[in-house]
Amino acid sequence: MLAAGCAVFLLVVALLAYVAFRRKARDSTATAETVRSAKRWIIAGGVVLPVVVLVPLFIASVSTLQSLMHDDGDYMTIHVTGRQWWWQVRYKGTAIAGDVIAANEIHVPAGRRVRVEVATADVIHSLWIPNLQGKTDLVPGRVNVMWIEANRPGVSRAQCAEYCGTQHARMALPVVAEPQAAFDAWLARERLPASPPADPAARMGSAVFISAGCGTCHTIRGSTAGGTRGPDLTHFASRRTIAAGTLSNTRANLTAWLADPQAVKPGNKMPRVPLTSQQVSATVSYLETLR
Ligand code: CUA
Repeated sequence: MLAAGCAVFLLVVALLAYVAFRRKARDSTATAETVRSAKRWIIAGGVVLPVVVLVPLFIASVSTLQSLMHDDGDYMTIHVTGRQWWWQVRYKGTAIAGDVIAANEIHVPAGRRVRVEVATADVIHSLWIPNLQGKTDLVPGRVNVMWIEANRPGVSRAQCAEYCGTQHARMALPVVAEPQAAFDAWLARERLPASPPADPAARMGSAVFISAGCGTCHTIRGSTAGGTRGPDLTHFASRRTIAAGTLSNTRANLTAWLADPQAVKPGNKMPRVPLTSQQVSATVSYLETLR
């Protein structure tokens, strides 16, 4: 396109120079011959030349666009759903293994193309991973696609980039790029259900989790908790952050979060559950076993 554009530009400049500097015609009365000549120039320069130049460029650009949009090479697909104010992340399964559902953290194999399908469960959000890709809006009723490829292992921050309510700013997530083998191991671990806790405090915590009703919103595969309104917590302890990038995932932060989620992230959909400090501590112990 650049070469063709340059050639056309030079041709136009040359013609312009020719017209500007050619000797003035001795008499300005138009003869039948000069009118015919002008008509030939208008048809050649105004119709034939644009068609000859633009048709091949149009075909070339459409076919390039097609191959950019429909990548049939080696890639994996991840589905990200935005919600007020967290991210559900689903890894497409294979013929024998089902999808893996996680939340608030995207894992990708480094050096591999990843097709990220983005959707929303409520309002418009936008997924922005500045290190890897520009913003792509999450629009109700639509699935948009963005492509990412991390050149090397590392953790990037992603952020919601479209105002979506009071906690729009606290709608972030880490994007973790790992070598393929480490990614495969991570995905295999994510696919497993949670193992029942052995430690007495964690056992008490798992009972609190169910009796306090946490399982109506959260799923922990391997337990009776099967809610889908909040993030899947099956492997919560392996994540880097709590509440979509709001806090780092430490015991102290998790205790503060469970004691009063509304104080940490006002307006979020997790209500303050009346628990004693002993119950909070036991629940934290339980959640920390969910590796
Ligand atoms: Cu979601 Cu802003």
